[in-house]
Amino acid sequence: MAISLPTEAGTTLAQPMAHPRRKGTLLVVDDEDGARQSLRVIFKDEYNILLAGDGATAVELAQEHRIDVAVLDVRMAGMSGIEVLERLKFVNPSIEAVMMTAFETTDTMRQALRLRACDYINKPFDVSTMRAAVANAMQRRSLESEIHTNADKLQQLLGELQSQKIEEQMANTRGEIYASIIHDINGPLTVISGFIQLMNQRIGDATRLEVEDLEFIKDRLKTITRQVTNCIEISRRYLSFLRRQSDDAPRVGVNQLLKDLGQLIRVHPSLQNNQFTLRPLAEDIAVSMNGTDVIQVLLNLTVNAFQCAPQPHAVEIEGCILRQPLDLAAFKDGPQDRLLNVENFENGVPLLIVTVGDNGPGIPPETLPKIFQAYFSTKGARQGTGLGLSIVQRLVKEARGALHVHTQVGRGTKFTLYLPAVPLAVG
Ligand SMILES: Nc1ncnc2c1ncn2[C@@H]1O[C@H](COP(=O)(O)OP(=O)(O)OP(=O)(O)O)[C@@H](O)[C@H]1O
Ligand SMILES: [Mg+2]
Repeated sequence: MAISLPTEAGTTLAQPMAHPRRKGTLLVVDDEDGARQSLRVIFKDEYNILLAGDGATAVELAQEHRIDVAVLDVRMAGMSGIEVLERLKFVNPSIEAVMMTAFETTDTMRQALRLRACDYINKPFDVSTMRAAVANAMQRRSLESEIHTNADKLQQLLGELQSQKIEEQMANTRGEIYASIIHDINGPLTVISGFIQLMNQRIGDATRLEVEDLEFIKDRLKTITRQVTNCIEISRRYLSFLRRQSDDAPRVGVNQLLKDLGQLIRVHPSLQNNQFTLRPLAEDIAVSMNGTDVIQVLLNLTVNAFQCAPQPHAVEIEGCILRQPLDLAAFKDGPQDRLLNVENFENGVPLLIVTVGDNGPGIPPETLPKIFQAYFSTKGARQGTGLGLSIVQRLVKEARGALHVHTQVGRGTKFTLYLPAVPLAVG
């Protein structure tokens, strides 16, 4: 059966976008030419009309044009109206359908309704009933497309809002990261400037250097070089975080890290006259956390321990291995205890435990909940930025470790770091 495209339909139909007030398009599918023509006459002034004498033609038209409503004869030779309806809905689920029936069973009609036909009319039809049914279907169609357009707009708005939020978060994270770089680099820089001052004093205005002076300078230069490397590593770590790259540095044994930490601490200005003890692991192990991060976490905890009181006190670092998962039920947050990152903690076996303890003044119960907040410090503006523990918290979270603090006013404080560990690769 040929496709009849009446009047100016071609140009109007080529417009792909729906607009609520545009002329609707009606597809008439009937294998009787008389019925098709009478429907065309009834609706030609109101809608763009497409006529199809069989199912295949109807589906073809639906693929080529944006059809709003289809009027379908249920009983047709070849593909039945129900089948055509199913295929039309497949091409475009938004097409509304009015079925024309002669003496179909209620079963057939039920099937049509299940396929979301919006109405059915008995044949021979009454013109005003047919007009009302098609007008109703057209209205449903334009309402639906309006809802779709609004839903699309809403989706787009939500998307824009989401990306704006992410950008804001990125800006915040960037700010935090820059502050962290400054905080972490500050320690090594203090050591470097102190050593340079020492060297200046030693050399003074001397025109010649004695052998001991040379030894002294060489030794200090070694420390300065180590601290400079440290600064570079710190900035590299944060920058790689900004670029969201993962760090594939080879795993170093924990005892080597503790040794490096010890060297940093022994030249650190906060050591002063405090007593410092470092007890390495009896058996070495590796952790998945990046080596610089491990040192950074422990250095922050140790410097805090040195700075907790002006009078000399003792600070001790000790490592051990736990060969069974941590009994998390045994921990309870309270006035003297806090456990961080329980939700995200990889509580596997083995676990590395490193404690940093001091016999300083302890942390009062009203202060304890605040110590991990960024910029919280009891040290006064010139002494502490209050970033140390918030950096520690972030690094521990990223490594899926946990951190426990136990403190007692007048007795001291002990931070315990738990990190997922792996046996050290041999060779
Ligand atoms: N071992 C400790 N004993 C007593 N108080 C502590 C101890 N460790 C941390 N605190 C308390 O936690 C607060 C926050 O520590 P954090 O490391 O975040 O900042 P800060 O040390 O004050 O400043 P920054 O680290 O920038 O030098 C400290 O100001 C201090 O009050
Ligand atoms: Mg600190």
